[in-house]
Amino acid sequence: MKKKVTNNVYWVGKSDWELRQFHGYEYSTGKGSTYNSYLITEEKNVLIDTVFKPFSGQFIENLSQEIELSKIDYIVCNHAEPDHSGALPDLMELIPETPIYCTKNCIKSLQGHYHKNWNFKIVQTGDRLSLGNGRELVFIQAPMLHWPDSMFCYLTTDNILFSNDAFGQHYCAEPLFNDMVDQHELYAEAIKYYANILAPFSKLVTKKIEEILSLNLLVDLICPSHGIIWRDDPLQIVRKYAEWADHYRQNQVTVIYDTMYNGTRSMAESIADGLIQADKEMTVKLYNAAKNDKNDIITEIFKSKAILIGCPTVNNGIMFSIAGLLEMLKGLKFQGKKAAAFGCYGWHDSSTKILGDLLKESGFEIVSEPLSTIWEPDGKLLARCVEYGKRFVAELN
Ligand code: FEO
Repeated sequence: MKKKVTNNVYWVGKSDWELRQFHGYEYSTGKGSTYNSYLITEEKNVLIDTVFKPFSGQFIENLSQEIELSKIDYIVCNHAEPDHSGALPDLMELIPETPIYCTKNCIKSLQGHYHKNWNFKIVQTGDRLSLGNGRELVFIQAPMLHWPDSMFCYLTTDNILFSNDAFGQHYCAEPLFNDMVDQHELYAEAIKYYANILAPFSKLVTKKIEEILSLNLLVDLICPSHGIIWRDDPLQIVRKYAEWADHYRQNQVTVIYDTMYNGTRSMAESIADGLIQADKEMTVKLYNAAKNDKNDIITEIFKSKAILIGCPTVNNGIMFSIAGLLEMLKGLKFQGKKAAAFGCYGWHDSSTKILGDLLKESGFEIVSEPLSTIWEPDGKLLARCVEYGKRFVAELN
């Protein structure tokens, strides 16, 4: 079903309310997601992006009810990941000569995925495509936001920025506009998306935002490729991205741990008591990494100015949930955050050293010596944990 965005611009994508995992099992999508494809019907008809492959048939059937496919003059592929290009192979079987406007890197990706030599038209920043009725599409390359091929395009007169993955959210909602959905849900999904997908490219986000703002473009709508369309004060999400890209941190400390016999859990809770006693204004959150969603924990770490991470020693190493989380943190390259490690052991104290090394490798500044204990922590040791939490807060100032 198509949905009107404005004037002759329509949403023709797919809303997937059922989706619970994305990028394989790398990203949890508790509120589903959408694959936003847009159809512009001016003197020239343009399709911007498509949908994920499993919905290709449904997409093409719906699209063909809105427009005779042979009347699509141009296809724009802003990004070749299969969640946006997945319907291209089936569509191009039906309209094989239709030109596909995309970046040079996008051609490489599309050919890598589909091994087809379609009618590609390479575009660069500043290139324009006339659609008639006084409208043009202006292309803006956005490399590494979040892939080398990523691109935005801007529709003049209607003043729409089609931003592909940037400014998106894995959030299925109706109606499809920011001013008509639950704001708390929307921003919870937007920051989760930034923390888990865009954060490694924060420096480039800052540069791209400066570049776009310097163009002084009127922006009435931002149409990303996932989630809602930004219609009310659309630049609010651009301002948020500028904030998130700049060493973002709230007055929050997050304690993350895994535990076998609750020893490390007791340490975590006592350290948290110390944090709370030392700064009553500060948000303190505790997560058992084995029991909580990894992407939600990553989001909480992104919001934090510091983290404490705890794990007992197991088989000379650390536990699976913590190891996985630290591997994710290494790739995400969060900036300007402090950390310390803690944990218990039975016969050999390995975990806190491993945790400290991995935290450093992930770009965290270690501000306290690790705290470890043999066997189950007793009252005396737990009192030390409380003091450790207090001292940790002092190190943050
Ligand atoms: Fe939504 Fe990078 O794909």
